[in-house]
Amino acid sequence: MKKIVVLISGRGSNLRAILDAALPVEIAAVISSNPAAAGLETARRRGVVAEAVDHRGFSSREAFDDALAARIDHFTPDLIVLAGFLRILTDGFVQRYPARMINIHPSLLPAFPGLDTHRRALAEGVKIHGCTAHFVTPRLDHGPVIVQAAVPVLPDDTPETLASRVLAQEHIIYPQAIRWFAEDRLSIAPDGGVTVPGATAVLPALLSPWEIQ
Ligand code: GRF
Repeated sequence: MKKIVVLISGRGSNLRAILDAALPVEIAAVISSNPAAAGLETARRRGVVAEAVDHRGFSSREAFDDALAARIDHFTPDLIVLAGFLRILTDGFVQRYPARMINIHPSLLPAFPGLDTHRRALAEGVKIHGCTAHFVTPRLDHGPVIVQAAVPVLPDDTPETLASRVLAQEHIIYPQAIRWFAEDRLSIAPDGGVTVPGATAVLPALLSPWEIQ
């Protein structure tokens, strides 16, 4: 069975979805950059080893990443799962885990990389928004896409209502991406395209807005 380490910084709702999904993986540890992260308690309640590497205790990004990598490597994971991990990682750290680190991002990448995605989506007036599970590469929020889920943007949406519609989809696609990894079904082509043999899209397309005539 493949081993994963989950990195968090806060609330941990994606972590909870991963735990609830009863995936065919061993969750070797949950590591938080923030000792007060609610997700640490969630993990401990489920009997998962949970610890913090407090980013405030380090004078540079490199020093923090070295300490974090040492803790991760202690658990010898096959996959590192970023689940609301709010630190920007150094290139050296990312290159340590090629095709072995994934992230969940709250937008349809490559649209809206970075922070504050829901407010920015509303400001741009897009009618469809969503989330992306992707492999992590040194370029922030640009690695090979594994799976995406789209949701409509509704006329009365606020950043909060839109975020909660997207988050519900994150909780579906992220465990799915980890399951595919566990089953050895993800392959990354040289051009960066990810294929999942046997997986197909749900049709028809999502149209937004739409009106029944
Ligand atoms: C999620 O929206 C995720 O896409 C982003 O950070 C948020 C983390 O939420 N990377 P949670 O801690 O999993 O509840």
